[in-house]
Amino acid sequence: MLKINFYPMCGIVAYVGHREAYPVILKGLKRLEYRGYDSAGIALNGDGIQVYKKQGKVARLEESLSDTSLTSTIGIGHTRWATHGEPSDRNAHPHLSSSGRLAMIHNGIIENYASLKQELENKGYQFKSDTDTEVLLNFIEDILACNECSLEEAVRVALKRVVGAYVIVLLDEEDPSTLIAARKGSPLVIGIGEKEHFLASDASPIIEYTKEVVYVNDYELAIIKDNELILKNLGNEIITPYVQKLDLELAAIEKGGYDHFMLKEIHEQPKTIFDCLRGRLDMVNHEIIMSGVQQYMEELKNANRIIIIACGTSWHAGLVAEYIIEELCRIPVEVEYASEFRYRNPIINKGDVIFAISQSGETADTLVAIERAKEQGAIIFGILNVVGSSIARISHAGAYTHAGPEIGVASTKAFTAQLVVLAMMALKIAKEKNTITQDRFVHLMEELNAVPDKVAKILSAADEVKAVALKHAAASSFLFLGRGYNFPVALEGALKLKEISYIHAEGYPAAEMKHGPIALVDENLPVLFVATKDAYHEKVISNMQEINARKGKLIAVVTEGDKSVASLTGDLIYVPEADEVIAPILNVIPLQLLSYYIGVGRGLDVDRPRNLAKSVTVE
Ligand code: F6R
Repeated sequence: MLKINFYPMCGIVAYVGHREAYPVILKGLKRLEYRGYDSAGIALNGDGIQVYKKQGKVARLEESLSDTSLTSTIGIGHTRWATHGEPSDRNAHPHLSSSGRLAMIHNGIIENYASLKQELENKGYQFKSDTDTEVLLNFIEDILACNECSLEEAVRVALKRVVGAYVIVLLDEEDPSTLIAARKGSPLVIGIGEKEHFLASDASPIIEYTKEVVYVNDYELAIIKDNELILKNLGNEIITPYVQKLDLELAAIEKGGYDHFMLKEIHEQPKTIFDCLRGRLDMVNHEIIMSGVQQYMEELKNANRIIIIACGTSWHAGLVAEYIIEELCRIPVEVEYASEFRYRNPIINKGDVIFAISQSGETADTLVAIERAKEQGAIIFGILNVVGSSIARISHAGAYTHAGPEIGVASTKAFTAQLVVLAMMALKIAKEKNTITQDRFVHLMEELNAVPDKVAKILSAADEVKAVALKHAAASSFLFLGRGYNFPVALEGALKLKEISYIHAEGYPAAEMKHGPIALVDENLPVLFVATKDAYHEKVISNMQEINARKGKLIAVVTEGDKSVASLTGDLIYVPEADEVIAPILNVIPLQLLSYYIGVGRGLDVDRPRNLAKSVTVE
């Protein structure tokens, strides 16, 4: 059985060098806040260890320290997504050991923390927090005290007893120029500068200082002492660090003049979609070039069934793909919530192919679900954004979406890139299977090729969507309706609104309205239809008239030049005409803008909605 480690997000940053550590760590934590923002804390080493921590976002910690002089050149910082213990000052990292000699940050879960805690309590240890981190820290301190060994040795001995996942970084009051870090399961990158070192959960806090990085592997220990990085394994053998050049520009992880990452990422979509198509749509020879798909073409062409596994927004991309693949490739498709699939002993037959869709490539439920399918012999295709992510590593093949780092917690550009990749995959398989005519194949390639310009056109009218959003920003509930290809778009619109604005929203197939949800309709309820021209258009127009007749507040995303909507009363948002197979990529854009402007209109932190984290790496 494949062993998969997954870990709660949390962001860690550490610095040692010639600069003041506090501003470096603080800025780094802000970049990592997408990983969790229940609390934040920093520990500095100088004249003893000072720990500063606060429940809430990094800005609260910063505010609380505005009058404090913090000049140390070595420190560690943490932004937390709570697992063991509620979000509070007490449970925030860094934690101090019982004696106060050591401070530690931790990203991960120590699964056997309860038994270690018991052992320590039997020896008289008392705990100030509810965290597994404090248990591990005191376990290290206990080994240090009993064995009279170095901290490095104590960490090594302790980690051999630990079950679970971790990145830890420690400060030692008795050795104020040294950082000790270790990793298993959770990510750790070390940036190597001129007489300085940066440690972080990903490269974003490091990129503006150095492009030379070392990705620490599982079961490795990093000791940074006297400006030197020493890597060792848990058996105390020295490992030569593999220094890589970062392929990431600072601009990709900054807001670039936008108020929020979410807005920046919405506006990036003409480019991200273009990047996703680039090199894949050969408009001269009318071919789609996707090497991962080509490599498994026989299995794909002959698949009895495609099972799509994903969560959240990625699951909605899977639903759109179900419509596309069934129509174009004539292969039955099932779309599964990863969290359901993994627990229900699913039936996988010979000839079943799995598509795993995930922006982060780290979602725990998706990871475990595909592991189950892989154990039963299924071929796994990853449709992923993050290169080298855990799902990428266990997939047989796949296609990257090339949307670039997505930092806003609500997924936008990753979703449209997923739709583009899935459409290209479907077209390629359909062509090989001969289930599509050459004319339709070429037409749909042209339609895909035109998407970046059409998205740019929709975005140029963002102010019109903003006006609609502000009109409805005070609503307490929303209904999103769509049919066929537009049904998953309605679901995605509802999810975006819930996440960003905390307004209750439901997505429904438009024709199901009369089987229940229509009872909700009154003069206070905004009902948004995704009603662009497609095979069901006339029927959807009738549904909209039913809303008008019941005085619901109609909002509709409709096709430019569509005369059949002229008789409707409500707010119409126009998008360029597109083939119904491709239309979801366009139609979701106004819904992203709508939820963004409603969230901002309600004064909410749209980049960091409450209770959410960018990747859900816990069950
Ligand atoms: C919604 C959102 C989430 C993710 C879900 C899966 O805006 O971002 O619903 O889509 O957590 O995440 P990935 O795609 O990283 O597996």
